[in-house]
Amino acid sequence: MEEFGHEAGFVPAETARDFVDALQRPRRLMIMVQAGAATDAVIDEFAPLLESGDMIVDGGNAHFADTRRRETALRARGIHFVGAGVSGGEEGALDGPSIMVGGSKEAYSSVLGPMFDTISAHVDGEACSTHIGPDGAGHFVKIVHNSVEYADMQLIAEAYDLLRQAGQYSPAEMAEIFRTWNKGRLNSYLIEITAEVLSRMPTPAGRSSTWSPMPPDRRGTGRWTVQTALELASPVTTIAQATFARAASGQPALRTAYRPLPGGMHIPKSRSEAERFTSQVEQALYASKVIAYDQGFTMIQDAALAYGWDIDFAAVAGIWRGGCIIRAAFLDRIRTAHQAAPDLVSLLAEPGFAEEITAAQVPWREVVATAARRGVPAPAFAAALSYYDTLRADRLPAALLQGQRDYFGAHTYRRIDRQGAFHTHWAHPDRPETDV
Ligand code: 6PG
Repeated sequence: MEEFGHEAGFVPAETARDFVDALQRPRRLMIMVQAGAATDAVIDEFAPLLESGDMIVDGGNAHFADTRRRETALRARGIHFVGAGVSGGEEGALDGPSIMVGGSKEAYSSVLGPMFDTISAHVDGEACSTHIGPDGAGHFVKIVHNSVEYADMQLIAEAYDLLRQAGQYSPAEMAEIFRTWNKGRLNSYLIEITAEVLSRMPTPAGRSSTWSPMPPDRRGTGRWTVQTALELASPVTTIAQATFARAASGQPALRTAYRPLPGGMHIPKSRSEAERFTSQVEQALYASKVIAYDQGFTMIQDAALAYGWDIDFAAVAGIWRGGCIIRAAFLDRIRTAHQAAPDLVSLLAEPGFAEEITAAQVPWREVVATAARRGVPAPAFAAALSYYDTLRADRLPAALLQGQRDYFGAHTYRRIDRQGAFHTHWAHPDRPETDV
């Protein structure tokens, strides 16, 4: 109150009881504490003081399954529980975040909608806030946002590493390259801040980098998306590789064991070759980024089917255009694509994105090949390209797994030329295939 009390009509409260008594009925409480036990503790402290028709809004990074559980439990007591994913960091908190609201439509339209529209970021006069769907849908879309954030950040980091190692660029030169990219189709908050970080990155004397390894990240919200993807068999491969890249960075013993082993060939590039390579990296980064965002929307589609949510993907892309960490110029086009085709299966089914990915084929493959030849780790780039080739393929090698599984476990296999499930006694050539 002493420092900020003059900035708005704040009403101080010393106890939970004072706090609740200071609120107009029906009461609305918003909490933003660490996901998990802390959130449950705050709910347990305040819920007994509330009456039917009151509302608790959780604006933290909660796991959507916890939000579904809490919403069910509090609904039984007549209390609205709303899980709202809030994205935007410190800037978002002050200038307007992107808000992904779950919970009942009634709770949203009564008061939350107008309030969140007011405090959220705005793009072209439109609020970056919307009702995503019931129960945990808002928090689910937020963890998908965070997982796409992981992929976007990892792809940018791999592009930086390739420019550093293969292009031999200094941090200041790379800052300029990212600033240039930010004027084009890669325009986004993460590209913009990367240029700023590179321009001010302290480079210790005689060292090639500033950053110590990313510490093992056992709390990160992006991993919840990967865990859910495994349950739903949603192949978010680029997002998963970005999440595992953080884990690999935090493995000092393994890295010490691998470090002496041979790697690729570091052939210096001339300035003109480095500039050409830089253009190829821009293409590869953009193509991989399209794949990562496409995987995020596929994840949302798969979850909506599994949990019975009816999610408007154009609205999701629309509120991600501003306020949030993954805000990017191309989200306008993603929104337009979903508006034009609400049942769009993939961004690559939209002609504009298909043309861009087609134009990027040669440079994209050249960059992934360069990384492999030089031994530069590029797991997210490689995963994005392999995901693309996997979904394009007429036949996939995974079909052979049926033979292996049938050999060791009699799990049967399917054929392309006949209906039914078959089993072969592989160790007994004299025994014929059987149609089981
Ligand atoms: C946002 C951010 C934020 C995130 C932190 C740390 O959208 O404002 O994604 O919500 O929680 O940046 O994220 P992790 O700890 O999950 O990496």
